[in-house]
Amino acid sequence: MNYSFENTVERRNTRAAKWDLVKTLYGAEDVLPMWVADMDFEVPPAVKQALIKRAEHGVFGYTFTDPDLDQTVIDWLAYKHGWQVKKQHLLYSPGVITSLHMAIQTFTNEKDKVLIQTPVYPPFYNIIQSHNRTLVTNKLSLIDQRYQIDFDDFEQQLQQGVKAFILCNPHNPVGRVWTREELEKMIELCKQYNVLVLSDEIHADLVLQPHHHIPAATIDEEMQDHIITCMSPTKTFNLAGLQASFVVVSDKQKRTALENMFNIQGVNHLNTMGITALDAAYSDGKEWLEALMIQLQKNINYVQEAFQDHPEVTAFRPEGTYLIWLDFRKLDLTQDQLKEFLQKEAKVGLNDGASFGEEGTGFMRMNIACPLSVVQEGVSRILQALTSRQN
Ligand SMILES: Cc1ncc(COP(=O)(O)O)c(C=O)c1O
Repeated sequence: MNYSFENTVERRNTRAAKWDLVKTLYGAEDVLPMWVADMDFEVPPAVKQALIKRAEHGVFGYTFTDPDLDQTVIDWLAYKHGWQVKKQHLLYSPGVITSLHMAIQTFTNEKDKVLIQTPVYPPFYNIIQSHNRTLVTNKLSLIDQRYQIDFDDFEQQLQQGVKAFILCNPHNPVGRVWTREELEKMIELCKQYNVLVLSDEIHADLVLQPHHHIPAATIDEEMQDHIITCMSPTKTFNLAGLQASFVVVSDKQKRTALENMFNIQGVNHLNTMGITALDAAYSDGKEWLEALMIQLQKNINYVQEAFQDHPEVTAFRPEGTYLIWLDFRKLDLTQDQLKEFLQKEAKVGLNDGASFGEEGTGFMRMNIACPLSVVQEGVSRILQALTSRQN
């Protein structure tokens, strides 16, 4: 089957956060939105059909996740990541962020230290601080135009008595897919200092050649029971509005504790459409995903080439995700000036780099999961604004 990612789907007036909040967030309707991490593409045809069929049924009473759905998830993890997961290790939740909130409440206490690697996805800060846990950061180092882990600092942070580490792999926003060696070092140190790993692997299926996603829980068998993995089909297949995710917890005690927390908080089941979409995507979405990755690679290549002759902006080549981290520091603007420049002069709506942590000051995050023509338009707006600025 041929899949096209060139069609523009009109998303305005569908309560699409990306498009319908443009004026509220960026001050004008004509700003091109390239921010929140969803895609402007239609879902795989099989997913759309499954949802239509379910909608036509017309009855939307309570539903449940069953062993067949577990098997579909298990088959996907084996196919995509060579990871053999047992049915009883799976829990479902409406979202990865929900699961992380629940895990922090279940496995840590007030004031406990929780480590993150910054700059990082903004809700990670809230997950820690909203439950009165203590934020500890291991700042990523930018060496030779590549974000890398400062392992000496990582160990020093763990030595302070860190209880849990929220790993982001692939990393949002810097686009790194951590290598086996990097994962081994992180997991080894967490083992040494008895730190629970909460591994957010929501972008795992969106890894670009020649990189390869390795689930953290597969690194060291002895550590597997100290790792809680959060995954979801929602980034992969553009289903964020349907809210369906799952957690892999191999340790029985931890799984029971987390499940109890899900029950207490009332987030222990998926919605009907989420179940339908998850099932169809993992069962029939493989070819579509392969085609999507080719399109994303094309879009990324375009952005890289376009900025090559503009040394005032550095576009980091992502190893995974459809998010490009852009370094505007050479423009020598304050963050407010940079935001104003992009909103008012370039008329593009990007994510503010500083929202990912102080290390993101001078940076912006651009979402390229849209038709190439839209990426071209966004990049051309930025380049034109840069030229006007110089003149
Ligand atoms: C690293 C990361 N984790 C979690 C999420 C959101 O997950 P969910 O919608 O399942 O809560 C995102 C969305 O962009 C993300 O980038």
